[in-house]
Amino acid sequence: MDTQTLFKISHGLYIIGAAEPNGRLIGSCIDSVMVVEANPPQIIVSLGKISYTAEQILKTKYFFLSVLGKENPYPLIERFGFHSSRKIDKWKDIPHTLINGLPALTNAVAGMEGHVLETKETKTHTVFLCSVEKLFPGTMGEPITYGEYQNYIQSKIKQRKENTHD
Ligand SMILES: Cc1cc2nc3c(=O)[nH]c(=O)nc-3n(C[C@H](O)[C@H](O)[C@H](O)COP(=O)(O)O)c2cc1C
Repeated sequence: MDTQTLFKISHGLYIIGAAEPNGRLIGSCIDSVMVVEANPPQIIVSLGKISYTAEQILKTKYFFLSVLGKENPYPLIERFGFHSSRKIDKWKDIPHTLINGLPALTNAVAGMEGHVLETKETKTHTVFLCSVEKLFPGTMGEPITYGEYQNYIQSKIKQRKENTHD
């Protein structure tokens, strides 16, 4: 099966911020978010079982979702999407505010506090059904799409290949 076809399903990119029970801030870059219904607002989030963020949210049940904008999100995607909070402090030097002890990006398109209602285990992921406790209007314009991120990555790979041929 060509899993590339899955990338044709359009969605956004997010930083899911959470805290360990002792308060240490953690988080991850995710794309698997879906609005289930608007009134009352409920969302579904899918996190890999190996993700430290998933492990901790299973314990604390709360997180803050920041919606990434089109304006240079790549350093954030790199920091939150390719490293684990098991090893680094991802929020160090990243402008953020604390909402009920949860880290929210200062510069985001929008934000919301989520509370886990139910979970379902799949082979590799935990799917979280969550209520949205509070919504926050953001400070930035348009949300980046997963497709735009894929195009950016493909152009970087092409650029690198061209440079190695020089
Ligand atoms: C663009 C992008 C999208 C991602 N989407 C998800 C996702 O939807 N769910 C997930 O669990 N991990 C996703 N990841 C992977 C996590 O961000 C990555 O495994 C991270 O290192 C987990 O960190 P943690 O161990 O601190 O939780 C994505 C990564 C990138 C770069």
